[in-house]
Amino acid sequence: MKKLSLVFLGAPGAGKGTQATKICEKYNIPHISTGDILRANIKAGTPLGLQAKAIIDKGQLVPDEVVIGLMKDRLAQEDCQKGYLLDGFPRTIEQAKALDTFENVSMAINIAVNEDEVVERIAGRRMCTCGESYHISTYKADTCAKCGAKLYQRDDDKPETVKARLEVYNKQTAPLIEYYGNKNILYTVDGSQDINDVYASIVKVINDNN
Ligand code: AP5
Ligand code: MG
Repeated sequence: MKKLSLVFLGAPGAGKGTQATKICEKYNIPHISTGDILRANIKAGTPLGLQAKAIIDKGQLVPDEVVIGLMKDRLAQEDCQKGYLLDGFPRTIEQAKALDTFENVSMAINIAVNEDEVVERIAGRRMCTCGESYHISTYKADTCAKCGAKLYQRDDDKPETVKARLEVYNKQTAPLIEYYGNKNILYTVDGSQDINDVYASIVKVINDNN
C-alpha cells in the first residue's frame, strides 16, 4: 500500500472525528485534527488558544495563515512521513492550495450526512479530552469508556453556534468537494449509516484505491 495521505471532508457533526480514530488505529497513521489541536491550546491557555477561543465560540474560522502554519509544522514531524489523516483541515480553498505546496494528498474522503442529522448528532454529543466522542442516545455514562475522564459538552455545540458553523461550512468548506473532485481524488461515503457501516465503507474505499 502506498503512503496514505488522507483528508476527511464533511459537515460539522458528520462523524469525521469518530471515524478518524478508528481509521488511524487500523492503518497506524497519526490523526491530525485542527479542532483538537486548537481546543488543547485553549485548555492550556496558550496565546493561540486565547486567540482561537473567541472565534471558535462564534462558529467562525481561525485565520488561514494561523492554521496553515500550524499544519505545516505538524506535517513536517517524523510520525507523518509514513502517512496521516487530516480531520478538519483544509477548511477553505486557501488552506487546500497551501497544503498542495507542501504535501501530496492521496485521497479526500467526504463523509456525507444531511443537515438535520448533523444538528441532531451535535446536540447529543459528549466529548472526552482524550479525543473520544459519544452520543447521549447510545452512551449513557458520564465518563469516558477508554480513559475514565469526565465527559463534557463543547462550548461551540450550542444551537446558535451550530447554525453559524453550518453556514460557514456551506460557504467556505463545501467548495472543497469540487476542488478535490477536479483532482480526481474525491471519494464520497454515505455517513448516515451506523458507525460501523460508515467505517466499513471508508475501509473499502481506501483498500480499493491503494
Ligand atoms: P472541529 O473540531 O473540526 O469541528 P467540526 O468540523 O465542526 O466538526 P465536529 O468535530 O463538530 O464533528 P465531527 O465530524 O468530528 O463529528 P463527530 O465524529 O464528533 O472544529 C471546531 C472549530 O475549530 C471550528 O468551528 C473552527 O472555529 C476551528 N477550526 C478547526 N479547524 C480549522 C481550520 N482548518 N481552519 C480554521 N478554523 C478551524 O460526531 C458527532 C456526533 O455524532 C458524536 O456524538 C458521535 O458520537 C455521533 N456520531 C458519529 N457518527 C455517527 C453515526 N454514523 N451515527 C450516529 N451517530 C454518529
Ligand atoms: Mg471532530
